[in-house]
Parts: sequence; C-alpha cells; structure tokens
Amino acid sequence: MEIKFTKTRPKAEVLIRFVKESEKGIKGRTMKVPVRSGVPKGIALRWAAAEAYRNVKAIGIRSIYVKKPPHMEPFKWYLQMYEGFKLAAYRYDRFHTKKEEDELVVYWQGEYNDLVKKADILVEATNFTRDIVNTPANVATPEYLKDVAETLAKENGYEVRVFGRPELERMGMNAFLAVAAGSQKEPYLVHLIYRPSGKVRRRIVLVGKALTFDSGGLSLKSAQGMMTMKIDKAGAAAVLGVFHALKRLKIDYEVHGIFAATENMPDANAIHPGDIVKSYSGKTIEILNTDAEGRLTLADALAYAAEQEPDYLIDLATLTGSAVVALGEFTAALFTTDNSLGHAIMKSGNISGERFWHMPLEDPFLREKMRSYAADVKNIAGDRWGGAIFAAQFLREFLPERIRWAHLDIAGPVFNMKEWAYNPVGATGFGVRTLLHLLMRTRSKS
Ligand code: BES
Ligand code: ZN
Ligand code: ZN
Repeated sequence: MEIKFTKTRPKAEVLIRFVKESEKGIKGRTMKVPVRSGVPKGIALRWAAAEAYRNVKAIGIRSIYVKKPPHMEPFKWYLQMYEGFKLAAYRYDRFHTKKEEDELVVYWQGEYNDLVKKADILVEATNFTRDIVNTPANVATPEYLKDVAETLAKENGYEVRVFGRPELERMGMNAFLAVAAGSQKEPYLVHLIYRPSGKVRRRIVLVGKALTFDSGGLSLKSAQGMMTMKIDKAGAAAVLGVFHALKRLKIDYEVHGIFAATENMPDANAIHPGDIVKSYSGKTIEILNTDAEGRLTLADALAYAAEQEPDYLIDLATLTGSAVVALGEFTAALFTTDNSLGHAIMKSGNISGERFWHMPLEDPFLREKMRSYAADVKNIAGDRWGGAIFAAQFLREFLPERIRWAHLDIAGPVFNMKEWAYNPVGATGFGVRTLLHLLMRTRSKS
C-alpha cells in the first residue's frame, strides 16, 4: 500500500496513540496501539508503527493521525515512525498482474524536515534491496546484478569496474570460477566506487555474497533446502542498497562495493567434490562440498577487496545455516578482527533496530579442521559443529593479517516466510540501514 505522510490535517478517520501495553484498545475514533516493553528501543516503536499499519489496513481505514508521545525525542519519533509504516507497507508486486492501488494518508505534526528526508532515503534504499533479493533467479541473473550496479553508477556518477570470465581467468580468480563452472550464465566481478566530493576521511570496502541461486552444485541441496535459495545474493543486494543511498546522504567516506556474482549449479562442467583450485590469493583449496560455495566466491572477492587497502573491510553473506541455528532467524552473526569496528556495527544496529551478535572468530581447535592432506585448506570441516565460526575462519585465510575486517553472516534475517515486526513476507533488506548508520554515525571522526 502506498503511504503518504503529510503535515496538513483536514480530517483523519482515526487518531493513533502509542501507549503502554496495558492501555491498548479502541475507543471512539482513537486507536491505542501498544509499544512493547522489554524490547530494545530501536525496535519497539518501529514495530508498533507496523502494527498500527496492519490494524488500520485490516479494517479498511485510509487516513490516520499519529500523535507523538510527549517525551519522545524527535529524532527517534520521525525516523522510527516513518520507517515502521513505510517498511511494513512494502509489497513485492512486480509479478502480480493486479497491483494494489490503495493509499493510506498519515497526518502528523512533522514537516518534511531533514529527519524525515533522511528516513526516506533509508527506506528507499532498504526497499531497493528487498526488490533485488525478492527477484527470482530466472530474472535476477549475475548479469542482472551487474546491470543494477552499472545503472546506479550512471545515475549517481560512481565509478564501476566489471570483470567477465576472460579477465577473471587472467587474474586467476579460480575459486570464484570454480563455483561458476556449473552455470551457463556469465559470472561477473563487480566493483563500485563512491568518492565523496569533499575531503575523504576513510576508505570503507563492502563485499557482498552474490549467488543468484544456490542449488548446492553436485553436493545438491534438498528440494526444501533450495526453495528459498534465490536469496543467496542478499549480501550483494545490501551493498547495492547502500550505494543507492550514498550520494543522497552525502556520505564523506570513500566507499567501495564489491561482489562476485554467479550461480551454483550442477552440470557436466561443474566442479566435483575433491577438486583443488588455486585461489586469487595464491592459497590452494580442496573443495570437498560444492554447497560451501559462498566462502569460495568470497575468498577471491575478499582477497581482491584487500588490495584496495581499506581502512575497514566489511562483508555481508548468507553464508551458513549454522549461523541461523546459533542465533535464530532474526539476528546476524558478527565476526571481526577489530573490536572497535565490531562495537561500531553493534551500535549502528541499535539505531537501525537490526540485531547483531558478536561471535568468536578465533578458535584454534576448529581451525585445525581446515587442514587438507592434499591442499593448503579444505572448504568444510567435515562435521556440523561450529559451522558459522569455521566458515568465518576460512574467509580469514584469504586476507592479509593487517586488515581490519568484519564478517556478517546474515543467512537468518534477510528473508522470512512469515511477516515479522516491520518486515512483510519475503526479503527484509537486512544490513542496509545498519551500514548507512555506520557511515553516518562516525562521519565527523577521522
Ligand atoms: N547459502 C547457503 C547458506 C544458507 C542456508 C543461507 C540457509 C540461507 C539459509 C550456503 O551456501 C550453504 O549451503 N552452506 C552450507 C555449508 C555446509 C555445506 C558446510 C550450510 O550452511 O549448510
Ligand atoms: Zn551453498
Ligand atoms: Zn550459498
């Protein structure tokens, strides 16, 4: 449903007030919507706004007035109300032949002030990412992701570098190419660069996992297991969402966005379990399970990213089912070589309402399982234990020691089969708003 926020208040059908849980209910034309207690502050009001949206939608109301609780800070109020309503109202309707055309008008005291403008940029970026993640694999091919990056570059004046199969072969991106071997579609390494107009403070490099479909390859997934695997590009989609907003927010970091886009398919040309490849970093990998493919594409993408000499390197990847087992489907696993970077991401998550949890990156015993008798490392541990940590340690093998790096395993929170808080069924756009808050939050520090 289209939502229009406006300051003028001719006549709203219903007044929405945000109250304590014990006071909820409808009286006359006032709907009291509860704000959950015991829920982190960044989540409670957005969630309540989403519930208000669903309540009024269910009973066919088309105009409401929302009233700011007296002690609420304007920053929180404008950002969270706007996001709560707009993010809840998102629908992926590209393939519906009949589109919903209803509109809900939300009257509030606010003008279209700077806070609302900022919130709108964040919402648009998130919904942009949701659209990409929701787009099925028959449409959202590696080439499609490349095209999205090129369009963003053209529209915003970003630089973009694209490497196709011949260049990748020349460069020796053999871990990435090994995953692409089973696909009929051309793989692309895409590198976007945003340069701020003023003085550059720091260089941040973002890397996203970009599997447009993960069938598992010859280590084939079950029918159930691959049903949602169009979402395996959510990391790259989040990076593209960030680029959607960078220029509009006038971010003063230099930001690079990198992804290695391909599909993981079984085929006569596909890699076999047991194959050994030499990665871009020079390390050799024994690929014992072709379904642990994200770490292969990321091994090369991260090694390439490290060459950009980032002050901070952050990757987002729907990397392991294990991260979802560990933390549930609403929380991303955060691994880092730099605690101050980890804390900054946690803090930005508190503002965005996206949940992260700090996981251990160092585990010398788990690391032993990476040893292969035939190559430098193997891509699976051989058992299920600590799978998300093992994968994070595997990625680290392809980065120079000095790099300040955070790895976000977002396999859980990027997609849901049931609506949840301000997320409708489907893609959530997870990661975009946290990264943007991170880039805004530390803007004045050098
Ligand atoms: N793309 C999957 C991870 C995933 C699982 C994302 C569920 C979202 C929801 C990844 O490529 C994968 O298949 N990982 C395997 C690794 C295993 C073979 C070591 C996994 O997690 O089972
Ligand atoms: Zn896989
Ligand atoms: Zn995958």
